[in-house]
Amino acid sequence: MTPQTLVGSARCALRAGFDVRELHYAHGFLLNAFLSPLTNDRQDKPLFVRLSAVDGSSSGWTIDGSVAFAAALKAVGVDVVDCSSGGFGVYEYPSGYGFQVPFAAQIRREAKIGTMAAGLIIDPWQAEAVIASGQANLVALGHVALRDPHFPLHAQQKLGIASPNAAYADWNIQAGWWLDNRETKLHQLGPWAPTVDAAADNRRGCSLCQLRVAGFFTTTRINNQEYKHEQTYLRAGISSYHRGAEQVH
Ligand SMILES: Cc1cc2nc3c(=O)[nH]c(=O)nc-3n(C[C@H](O)[C@H](O)[C@H](O)COP(=O)(O)O)c2cc1C
Repeated sequence: MTPQTLVGSARCALRAGFDVRELHYAHGFLLNAFLSPLTNDRQDKPLFVRLSAVDGSSSGWTIDGSVAFAAALKAVGVDVVDCSSGGFGVYEYPSGYGFQVPFAAQIRREAKIGTMAAGLIIDPWQAEAVIASGQANLVALGHVALRDPHFPLHAQQKLGIASPNAAYADWNIQAGWWLDNRETKLHQLGPWAPTVDAAADNRRGCSLCQLRVAGFFTTTRINNQEYKHEQTYLRAGISSYHRGAEQVH
């Protein structure tokens, strides 16, 4: 039996004058077999549906429709509604950080289905708060994941969830082993800090000049005193004047 044969037989019944059609979900027939765990042993993977929870215009699709639709989706076996919004060019809502989280929260609360929040969730603590407060079951990342494909692994470290003994245990094995080894080395060395080398500063002119590329000086006269002027800083918009080792400006 195919969907076409079902549709075809329904049409035949209508043309034959029947007022009612009945779908047979009983007595071990095919549809009954889909319902019963005695015969249906499928272990389906979770199924997510992405919705535009609102169009973003008061005359468009609204959150109430999405709540009702999400409840219907749950009834047919959908596990999670991924809550986005917009799509028809009008968007009259504010679109700040986590702007779609309230949609995920309302759909989760009212349709009693799992939700995923997306949209300008950019920070581990922000993402954690969405989950911890029960506004959504999952957080989806778009642009931040393009910017930092390891965002979830970095978040794990920032949130202190990573193992202190193997901070990179969840990274891919090729990178994680090396990074954990390096972490041990960095602990031995202590935090990195710029070195202050007074003798070298004297030779260079001032401590800022640690960053200097090849010497490129002109001299400037201020109050009858001659100062060296580093051209590279001038071009970078940071002008600095020196008298010997002393940075004057
Ligand atoms: C590469 C890329 C392509 C996208 N394409 C679309 C799209 O065609 N339509 C749409 O509504 N959203 C699109 N989005 C938005 C995402 O579906 C997602 O909701 C959004 O990026 C999540 O917010 P975030 O990027 O601030 O984390 C896209 C995002 C990215 C990063």
